[in-house]
Amino acid sequence: KASAKYEINKSNLKQGVRNAAFQDDEAVQVEPTERGDSGDPGESEYTQVKPYPGMPKEVLLLYSCQARYRVPREILFWLIVALTLALIAVTVAVIALSPRCLSWWQSSPVYQVYPRSFMDSDGDGVGDLRGIMQKLDHFEYLNIKAVWISPFYKSPMKDFGYDVQDFRDVDPLFGTLQDFDDLLAAMHDKGLKMIMDYIPNHTSDKHVWFQLSRNRTKNYEDYYVWVNCTQTEPPNNWVSIFGNSSWTFDEVRGQCYLHQFLKEQPDLNFRNPLVVNEMLEVLRFWLEKGVDGFRMDAVKHMLEALHLRNEPQVDPNQPPETVDTEFELYHDYTTSQPGLHDIIRSWRVEMDKYSTEPGRYRFLVTESYDYEEIYKTMMYYGTPFIKESDFPFNFYLLYLPDNLSGQGAFDLVDLWMSNMPEGQWPNWVVGNHDKPRISSSAGLEYMRVINMLLLTLPGTPTTYYGEEIGMENVNVTDIQDPFGKFNPNNSRDPQRSPMQWSPEENAGFSINKTWLPVHPDYKTVNVEVQKNDSRSILQQYRALSQLREAELPLQRGWMCYVWSDANVFAFLREMDGFPQAFLMVLNFGANAVTDLSAVPELPEELTVRLNTHSRQPGTRIRKSTINTESGEGLVLEYSSQKRFYPGNVSKCYVSEKACYLSALNLLYKC
Ligand code: GLC
Ligand code: MG
Repeated sequence: KASAKYEINKSNLKQGVRNAAFQDDEAVQVEPTERGDSGDPGESEYTQVKPYPGMPKEVLLLYSCQARYRVPREILFWLIVALTLALIAVTVAVIALSPRCLSWWQSSPVYQVYPRSFMDSDGDGVGDLRGIMQKLDHFEYLNIKAVWISPFYKSPMKDFGYDVQDFRDVDPLFGTLQDFDDLLAAMHDKGLKMIMDYIPNHTSDKHVWFQLSRNRTKNYEDYYVWVNCTQTEPPNNWVSIFGNSSWTFDEVRGQCYLHQFLKEQPDLNFRNPLVVNEMLEVLRFWLEKGVDGFRMDAVKHMLEALHLRNEPQVDPNQPPETVDTEFELYHDYTTSQPGLHDIIRSWRVEMDKYSTEPGRYRFLVTESYDYEEIYKTMMYYGTPFIKESDFPFNFYLLYLPDNLSGQGAFDLVDLWMSNMPEGQWPNWVVGNHDKPRISSSAGLEYMRVINMLLLTLPGTPTTYYGEEIGMENVNVTDIQDPFGKFNPNNSRDPQRSPMQWSPEENAGFSINKTWLPVHPDYKTVNVEVQKNDSRSILQQYRALSQLREAELPLQRGWMCYVWSDANVFAFLREMDGFPQAFLMVLNFGANAVTDLSAVPELPEELTVRLNTHSRQPGTRIRKSTINTESGEGLVLEYSSQKRFYPGNVSKCYVSEKACYLSALNLLYKC
C-alpha cells in the first residue's frame, strides 16, 4: 500500500511538482533500505533539525509526514468522523425514541363556559365576554388551561345563541368584537386556550343567507334545504329534535324548508359547495383571530337523504299523525349520512394549516349523540391516515345516574375504552348545557367521587361550569328554553342557572338581576366560601387537577380494571419503568369493604394521596380491607417494580404510551 502511494507521488514528481522538501521527505519515508536506515527513516534523517517557530511551509512539510505527526493527525481525523456519525445516530435515536408530547387539549381538563350564565359584567342579568375576562383567575385556580365558550355570535337568541344571525360578529348581549379580541388576548397572556362553538348545521332565520335564499336571490337559492310542499302537508314525516315536523312552509318562497331544530333554525344545505365554502371561510375568520379550537355542534345532522323518504317509526303501530318527537323515529335518513365525514375531514385539513407553529395546535371536538350506536361516535376519530376530531365528546358517563353502582361505572368506562380505536385519546363528559346536572340526577353526595373518576381516568376530562363546586339543577317556573316550551320535562333551564361565585346578592353573578333564578343553595355552594374550606368540592377538584398534571402515570400511564361490584369501581394507573403507581377506589353505591388481597401486583399496604371524605393524606391502608363510604373516593399511591398489565392485558388500556427511564429521568417510546 505504501509503495503504491509512493508510485503515485513519484509520478507526480515526474510531472513537475516543485515542492522539493516534500519530495525528499516522501522518498526518505518509503525507501528506508536505500538509505541503510532501520526504523523510521524520516526520524533518523532529520533528528538534527528541530522544528522552530515561523518555519516556512517547505520545512513544515518535512515534519508533517513523520509518523509522530501523521499518526495523531489521522487518529484525530477518524475520531471526528466517528463522533460526527455518533452524534447523528444519537439524534436520530432521540427523535425516534421520544414519545409524543401531550398537546394542550390532552394535558388540561376542558372547562365549558355557558356565557349567558357565567359572569355578568354590565348588570343586564345576562353573562358576557367581559364577565368571563374578570374570572380568568378561576381557571388558573383550578389548574385548567382549556376553556370552551358556548356560542356568543350575533343571534336572535331563540335557542340562546345556537341560532346564529352573523357568524362574524358578537351579539351585543355578550359584548363586541373588540371585547372578544381583548378576551382572547387576555386568555393567551395567561396561557389559556379558547375553544369556540361552531354551528354548521343551521343558521338563524334572520341570517342574511336565509333572507337571500327565500327570495331566490341568484347563488343563494340552494343555501338551505327547500322542498315543494303545501301549507298544510309537509313533504314527509321527519321530526325536529325540539319536537313537531322538521318542515316549515315559507310564505315568501312558497316552499318548505328543513329545520332539524327550531323553525327559526333552518338547516344549511351542505350538498351545496358554496355553503361548504362559506362555512370554511367562517372557520378561517376565527382561526385568523387566533382561536385555539372548535366544538362542532350537532354534526350528525349536517346531511339528509335526497330521496326524502319517510323515516321508519320505532313503533310501527303508532298512528303516524301522533309521531312528533325524536325518539319515535329511526333517523336513517336525517342523521349520519354518507359524506358527513368528508366535511369534517376538510375542516381538520383547514385547521392543520393553522397548526404548524409549536404550541399552536388547533383542536377539534365533535358533538354527536349516537346512543346505543357508539360505533357511529367512534367514526369521528377518523382513521390512522385521515384525521377528523381530536376526540368526539364521550357522553356515555351521562348515564351514570341511571346505573349508579361500581359495576355501572365500570360498564360505562369500558363501553368507551373497548370501542375506541387503538391509539386514540379518550375523554369524559359528566354534564353540559343540554343535560341535567349530574349532581342532581346522581345525588350531590356522589359529586366528589364523580369528579375523582373524571380526573383520574385516562384522557381529557370536561367540566361544565359549576360542577367544580357541586352546583345543582334549579327549579325554573318561567321556562325560557324552547325545548322546555315544547315539553317542560325537556327544559334545559335548570342546568343553566347563574354561576355561584359568592354568598352576595345574585351569588356574585350580577349586581342587578339574573336571567334565570340563582339556586337557593348559593350561600354555601359558591366559589368564595369553598375556597376557604380545605374539604370543599372546589378544593378537591383543584387537588385532583393538580395531581393529574403532576403525576406521569395519571397523565399517560396504563389504566387497568382491578375491581367492580355493586358499590365499588377500582382501577389503577401505572407506567413501565416508573415505580410509583396509583389505585383509585371509588364508591358509587353503599358503604363497602373491598378486599384486593387477591391482586398480587399490589403491595400489602397503600398510602392515601387524596380522599373525598375525612381520611388524611399519608394514611396507610391494607389492600385486604379497603373501607369506603357511600360516595367516597380514594386515590391510593404505592411504589412497586411489579406491573399489573403484563398479566392482565385484557383489562388494560393505554393511549400515548410512554415508558420511564429512571437512570436518565426521561420518557421514551416503548
Ligand atoms: C346542540 C347544542 C344545543 C343546541 C343544538 C342546536 O345540541 O348543544 O344546545 O340547542 O345543538 O344547535
Ligand atoms: Mg351582561
